[in-house]
Amino acid sequence: LASTDVNLAHITEGQAVTVMWRGKPVFVRHRTAQEIQEAETVPLGELRDPQPDSARVERKPWLVVLGVCTHLGCVPLGQRPTDARGDFGGWFCPCHGSHYDTSGRIRRGPAPTNLAVPEYSFTSDTQIRIG
Ligand code: FES
Repeated sequence: LASTDVNLAHITEGQAVTVMWRGKPVFVRHRTAQEIQEAETVPLGELRDPQPDSARVERKPWLVVLGVCTHLGCVPLGQRPTDARGDFGGWFCPCHGSHYDTSGRIRRGPAPTNLAVPEYSFTSDTQIRIG
């Protein structure tokens, strides 16, 4: 499938879903106000791969990233409520210990770059199309 539609209506604040797109997992997270604030207030100088949160989201509550660690391609933990999310509240890759923040940016560990943001757009207030 070239593109994947995701219905956001049932993803409540603080929840996340994983969808498959072109054979890869895509993480869609409905961020809380606190997660958004954390993502926006970190100084860019502290980031290995400096990108403001505003460059990574279309709409602040919704973070959409490829669920593929940029080190060697494991699927990071953090989608389920019981998952470890690492030291920065986003995702934690158990393969070699990469920590990602609430914008999916690499903060600690061996991964060189942020979780990639796939091409997507809002097709309504409650739906996105990836790809
Ligand atoms: Fe994720 Fe190595 S594959 S830390």
